[in-house]
Amino acid sequence: MTEPRGQWSGRMGFILAAAGSAIGLGNLWKFPYMTYENRGGAFVLVYIAAVVLVGVPIMMAEVLLGRRTRRCPVGAYLVASEKRPGGRTWVSVGYLGVFAGFVILSYYSVVAGWTLDYILLSLLGKLGPLARDPAALQTYFVDGFLHNGWQQTIFHLLFMGLTVGSVYFGVKGGIERVARVLMPVLFAIMLLLVIYSATTPGFGHAMRFLFRPSFGEMHSSGYLEAMGQAFFSLSLGMGCMLTYGSYMSSNSSIPRSVLQICALDTLIAILACVIMFSIIFSFDLQISASATILFTTLPTVLVQLPGGNFVIGLFYLLIAFAALTSTISLLEVVSSYAIDELHWSRRRAALTMGAVIAVFGVLNAWSLGASSALSNFNPLGKSSTTGVFGTLDYLSANWFLPVGGFLVALFVGWILGRRTSRTELEEGHGVMAGYSLWRFLIRFVAPLAVGAIIVSVILGAEYQ
Ligand code: PHE
Repeated sequence: MTEPRGQWSGRMGFILAAAGSAIGLGNLWKFPYMTYENRGGAFVLVYIAAVVLVGVPIMMAEVLLGRRTRRCPVGAYLVASEKRPGGRTWVSVGYLGVFAGFVILSYYSVVAGWTLDYILLSLLGKLGPLARDPAALQTYFVDGFLHNGWQQTIFHLLFMGLTVGSVYFGVKGGIERVARVLMPVLFAIMLLLVIYSATTPGFGHAMRFLFRPSFGEMHSSGYLEAMGQAFFSLSLGMGCMLTYGSYMSSNSSIPRSVLQICALDTLIAILACVIMFSIIFSFDLQISASATILFTTLPTVLVQLPGGNFVIGLFYLLIAFAALTSTISLLEVVSSYAIDELHWSRRRAALTMGAVIAVFGVLNAWSLGASSALSNFNPLGKSSTTGVFGTLDYLSANWFLPVGGFLVALFVGWILGRRTSRTELEEGHGVMAGYSLWRFLIRFVAPLAVGAIIVSVILGAEYQ
């Protein structure tokens, strides 16, 4: 017995769910960190260029492939490659995506679990006092929490439970419902924090840092980092947007929705920088090259501002919400494979796949606890090749996603055929004025640009 395939309730449902997938730890954590490393303005401009020239066209390609075939990534290539050059070998792109979803979720939800610990601490009224004493917080988080496999396991499992619970209830009843509640709250908290940061003395400095580009100061690797980050942040290259697109109604416009999702994702990433840099510059802090800044440095600063205790709680709630709508989309990719190709029921798929991934996550949590170089360890950053945890992120962000994105661009640009892509992009949209521009980007610009990243990673130029 196959259940009827899920669908979003409308265009808004799709946009909220897809924006929920895109907006996550990548925006609130990785992007500010990378922007700081690359000294601001120029990197922001290069990132925006990567989103416009590569991210937008590839997201349109993924969504159109999903909606055209109404299948998970594996099924989509199975259907769409029929009688086309390359035939079934394209299916491996779908498998790569499902595999990447599995891997990313197994470490992403461990980091997401950290925010739950902070929310709990803040509810218990313990986070404020801890944050007032930077040394104590450092000891608590780095020496205590990160080394405590049990504690991390519990919060990771809790986060996986929330994720499985959402996917379990289906496209409309679970994923969309969660996004409809969390995304508006997330935007509201974000807005509050931006207004708040505008009152801090470091705001002007932050704005100059972000919007006054000086290319001389950016590392040459910034171009490549910006592109990898665009893939990660927009949830591209692993069939996530393809899967969400497969639940989209034919009455909705793909080009318009994709533009809005990309704009929202980029806006949130930049606002996250505005918030964090205003606060950091207010106190003249140097960000150390460590991922723990979000959990060690920022709280000690946030708590000193008026209303600090409250702001801190809000801050981690924001991060948890953003991460949850992303982990949901990761699990949905893996589950949709079991539902479409193995003909499992949705409930069985969500529970089984969720459980298997959770077990891998537990191994990651323990491997992190066992790792010695934690204080300058950056789980979601480029230099994180320490331990299993870092290796997984390195592999995903620098290999799986760019390679997946490159192949999607080749498939949709060169194999799928002009008529098919045009029909799908114009369905629910009307005549698409920018179609030729999109086709040029997807056939030439995106593959060449992404190909450049892949080659540079192979040559190791980026990581020296
Ligand atoms: N886009 C998410 C983020 O920015 C991460 C993600 C990647 C989610 C790939 C789904 C697929 O945090």
